[in-house]
Amino acid sequence: MKTAIFQFILVIFLFSCTSKPVPPTINPQAFDKVIDGKQVKLYTLKNQKGMEITVTNWGGRIVSWLVPDKNGVREDVVFGYDSINGYLNAKENYFGASIGRYGNRIAKGEFSIGDIHYKLAQNNGVNSLHGGVNGFSKKMWDVVQKSAGELSLKLVSPDMDEGYPGELSVSMVYRLTNDNELVIQYDAKCDKPTIINLTNHSYFNLHGAGNGTILDHQLTINADFFTPIDSTLIPTGELTPVGNTPFDFRTPTPIGSRINSEDQQIRFGLGYDINYVLNKKTDQNVSLAASVFEPESGRLLEVFTDQPGIQFYTGNFLDGKYPGKKGKTYGYRTGLCLETQHFPNSPNQPKFPTVQLDPDQVYAHTCIYKFSVKK
Ligand code: BGC
Repeated sequence: MKTAIFQFILVIFLFSCTSKPVPPTINPQAFDKVIDGKQVKLYTLKNQKGMEITVTNWGGRIVSWLVPDKNGVREDVVFGYDSINGYLNAKENYFGASIGRYGNRIAKGEFSIGDIHYKLAQNNGVNSLHGGVNGFSKKMWDVVQKSAGELSLKLVSPDMDEGYPGELSVSMVYRLTNDNELVIQYDAKCDKPTIINLTNHSYFNLHGAGNGTILDHQLTINADFFTPIDSTLIPTGELTPVGNTPFDFRTPTPIGSRINSEDQQIRFGLGYDINYVLNKKTDQNVSLAASVFEPESGRLLEVFTDQPGIQFYTGNFLDGKYPGKKGKTYGYRTGLCLETQHFPNSPNQPKFPTVQLDPDQVYAHTCIYKFSVKK
C-alpha cells in the first residue's frame, strides 16, 4: 500500500514538473542593497492560479509578472531588470515604476495654485515629466504589510520635494486576486494645497517581455475622444473625436495597423503616445478602460480604472541598449503602456478635470490589470 501511495505521489510530482515549463524566478538577493539608508528588497506575490508578480520597494516597481497562456505556459510579460543595479545603470524608461507626484508632463515645469507660482524640475526638454528628476519612481518606499497576495507600501514626500508644495503621504497597495487581477490602490493626503496624479508605468508584451513585437496585439480603448498634443507632447487643451483618425480603438484593432500613418499627432509621439478621455457614466466608478489581446498566446489584458484618462504609449523611445531580464532586450515599439491617470498638464488647463488636492481631501485612485485567456 505504502509503495502504491509513493508511486502515485511520484507520478504526480513528475507530471507537475514536466507539463508546464516554469521559467526561473528572479533571484531576490540581486535586489539587496541599501539606498538612502533603507534596505531595497524584492517581494513576491502569488495567487492560486499560477500568477506570480515580483515588486521592489525601490520606486515601488513591478519587476516581473508571470502570466499563463492558453496552454497554461507562464511567461514574464513586463519589462524590467534582473537586479537593482540593472535599474540604476540603465537609461530611465520607468519600467514598472510607480510614478508621482505627477504622471506625464507639466508644461515648462510650472503651475500655480491661487496666487502662488511653483517651479518644478525640467527633465524632459523644457517640460517636467513623471514627477521630475527624483520622482517617486526612484524613491525608497516603506513596506507597511506583506502577505502572500498583497503588498502595502508607503511614501512620505516632504514639502517642496521636486518643487511640489506640501508634505504628501502616499499609500499604495498591490493586491493579487485569484481572478488574476492586480488591484493597485493609491491613497494620499497632503498638509497644503498641492497637485497629484499617480500612475503605474509597466510595459507589457503579451508574447513575453523581449519576445518581439506588440504591433500584432489587438487593442480596444473605451474612449470617443483624445487630448491632442503639440510638438513637445503637451496637450493643446482641445478634445478631439477619435473617429476617422489612427487613434480610434473603439473596436479591437491591431496596434500596428495605423501606427505609421501620415498624421501629425502620430509624428509628434513617434507612434502612439497619447492620452484618451475615457467614456464614463460617473466620475467615481471603476470601469473597463482598455483591453489588449494577443492571438498567438491567447493572453488578454483588461484595464479598469476610476480615473478620467489613460495614456497609451508604444515604447517609441526605447532603444534596446540595456539588456533586461535573462539578457533579453527591449527595443523600439516592443512594449506598450496603459497608464491610468488624469490628463497631462491639467494644472495649466482649467478645462481639464482638476488635479488639485486640498488638505481636507483624500486622493484615491484604483487601477486594475486583469489577465485571462481567450482561445
Ligand atoms: C510618456 C512618454 C515617455 C515615457 C517615458 C510615457 O508615459 O507618455 O512620452 O517618453 O512615458 O518612458
